[in-house]
Formats: sequence, C-alpha cells, structure tokens
Amino acid sequence: MLHTITWTGHAARLLDQTKLPMETAFVEITDEKLMWDAIKRLVVRGAPAIGVSAAFGVFLGVRDDASEYLEDFDRRVNEVCDYLATSRPTAVNLFWALDRMKRVSKETRQQGSRSEEQMTAKIKQRLLAEALSMLEEDTQICREIGRHGLALLQEMVSGKKLTAGKGSEFRVQGSAEEATERRSDGTTQGHTETESSKRATRNLPLEPSTAHSPSAAPISLLTHCNAGALATVAYGTALAPVYFGLESGQAFHVFADETRPLLQGSRITAYELREAGVPVTVICDNMAATVMSQGKIQAVIVGTDRVAANGDVANKIGTMGVAILAKHFGIPFFVACPLSTIDLSLATGDLIPIEERDSKEISNGLGRQTAPDSVDFYNPAFDVTPNELVTAIITERGVARAPYGESLKRLMGK
Ligand code: MRU
Repeated sequence: MLHTITWTGHAARLLDQTKLPMETAFVEITDEKLMWDAIKRLVVRGAPAIGVSAAFGVFLGVRDDASEYLEDFDRRVNEVCDYLATSRPTAVNLFWALDRMKRVSKETRQQGSRSEEQMTAKIKQRLLAEALSMLEEDTQICREIGRHGLALLQEMVSGKKLTAGKGSEFRVQGSAEEATERRSDGTTQGHTETESSKRATRNLPLEPSTAHSPSAAPISLLTHCNAGALATVAYGTALAPVYFGLESGQAFHVFADETRPLLQGSRITAYELREAGVPVTVICDNMAATVMSQGKIQAVIVGTDRVAANGDVANKIGTMGVAILAKHFGIPFFVACPLSTIDLSLATGDLIPIEERDSKEISNGLGRQTAPDSVDFYNPAFDVTPNELVTAIITERGVARAPYGESLKRLMGK
C-alpha cells in the first residue's frame, strides 16, 4: 500500500501526488518552508492529509529553534503555525491541526516547573508526539467512516426497491423531492433513516453500524476529485466504504469524474482504485449527466474540505454541479468526512473561504497551452453545495441528516 505521509525519524516523507499516475516519487520534508510549498503545490492534498502534514510542519519548523527563553520559543511556535496557515485557505483541517499543535504547546508550558531549556525540549517532544498521533488517528477515523458509510450504502440498495426510472435501467425509488419533503417535516430525514442515524440525530449514543449482507451486484458510485486513501493517511473518506466493503466481500464499481483542472479524479482516484483492484471508470466532468441518466449510478459520494454549521459543503470545484444533477435524477448525494472537517463556527457555506488558484492550471494544465493568450481566467478551486442537496453526511461518529443545524451539533457533542 502506498503511504501518503510517513515519519522517517528526521523528516516527513510525502508521496508526490503532482507526479501521479505516471511516477511514484516521494519527497522528504525537513522544514516548515518545504511543507508550506508541498501543501500549496498539492504534493500533499486532501483535507485530512493537509492537516496531518501541517502538524509535522509545525514540529519541523521549531525543532532546531535554540531560543533561550520560553517566551521566544512560544512566539516561534505561533509564527510557524501562522505561516503554515497561509498555505491553503479552504480545508478547515489545516486550521484544526494547527490549533491542536498550539494547544499542546500551551498546555505543556502551563504544566512546567522545570528550567526554560527543559521546557522547550519537552514541548518539542510533545509536538512530535501530537503529529504522530494525528497520523495514527486518521487511519482509525477513516475506517470508522468506512464502516458507517458501507452500512448506509448497503441499506440503500437493500432497503430501497430499485425500479426503472426516468431513462434509467435502475434507480433508487423515492425522488429527491420526496426526500426533501420528508426532511422538512422534521420527522424523517433523507432517503432512509437507519437506527444509528436516528440515534445520531437525536443525540442518543450511537450504536455500531451493522453492515448488511453484501449486495449481489456491485454498488455503483460516482465520486468527484479524490477523497480516497491518498487524500488521507489511509482508507480515505468518500472511498472508505469501498475499501471497508472489500474486506467483507462487497463489490463496488466507481465512476470517477476526471475533475478539471488538476485531474485528481483521473490521476489519483483512478490510480488508487486500480491499485486496490476496484473496477473504476473515468469520465470527463461533463459526462456525469449522461451517465446518471443511463441509470449507471446508485449514489454519489464525495469528500469535503469544510462543512458549515448548516450542512453546506465545500468541496472540489464541480461538486455542486454533480449534486444538482443527482437531485435531478433522484440519486442520493452523500458526503463523507471526519468531524475535524465540520466547522460550527461558520453559520453558512457562503462564509467558507474559497481558494483561487493560478490561471495556468486552466490554460496550460494538460501539458500544452489550451487557450489563447490574453484572455481572462477564473479558477476557484472549490465550490459550496447547499445543504438541501445533501442526503447525508457520514462521519466517524455516525450519519447526520437534515436538519443539519441540529444533527451536526449533536454529532460534535455540542
Ligand atoms: O485540491 P485538493 O486536491 O486538495 O482537493 C481535495 C478535495 O476536494 C477532497 O474532496 C477533499 O479535500 C476531501 S479529502 C478526504
């Protein structure tokens, strides 16, 4: 298995995702400047992987600091965190990880009764330990997302009769309108309400999701961008149910949107699924409507960089279009993410900062110039899908459904 991030003992070793799928190369990151650059250039990418990498960046940025006074060392920790925070603005996991590192530094300092030199050494040690535990935790979290997501998908295919629909060979019965209606009356939310999701939305302790027996036919999914193992430490978020399902004999077929302009879908999602032996079909972004209309998709599942308190979801540019199409064709639209991606401090999605990237990614992204000189470009890297298009949000603690203002808070224990 390819590892996105590993700690070598002296450096963070990152898989260079800019080179995929043709080259499997790794880079060793030994200071915070190299880490900033790796995050910015998408050497490491995907919200959870960005968070964990930034945590290592903090340690790397302070490990050689020789400040005599704790106050100066403390200033350096904050400086490095502030610097890394400027690498990419949308994935809240970056800020979540940096806050966590700052907290570790502060708490260790407050416990101190030793010399300033000893305290500094202790903080450095704790910062590394924290980054290493984030690395460890991410795998566990994604596995749990996979478990909940698999149960949801299996329930979807077993509990819902698949019938011929609008131009479809098969589709999930129950239109998107019906689902919205059921949500708005506040009793039932989403396409199917599982016992575990009922518990989640009512703040009851979550019961472990029980996987249903594998469906005979492969479950057919569409995903956008890459929210797989390579966007995290392992398993991924949107692709976690696929990998978790493989372990219990559930087959999948994944349609991967190519994902212009940087092609994370065809370069990375298709690559990692092929490596895992999962059947994958790459389509250009503008083919999703056709594929859906042909009844080839049972559910859409994507990751996210930030979820606002009302359930609006920021994800790779193009996601909102896929969600609109899914609604049109009555296909469930699922979002999978760790709790660290949920930002309750932002009431709605329009407050999420959206990264704008270099126009060259559009004009010269395919190895040659594909647009005339002297024209304007607009390259927002993310869009925000309104919560009413989201069937459910799958987290490590269970599944949230509308009304998200309440269910997300309960999942977060607030
Ligand atoms: O620009 P990227 O490649 O970092 O964008 C990644 C995505 O949009 C992912 O879907 C998101 O970060 C979730 S990753 C589990």
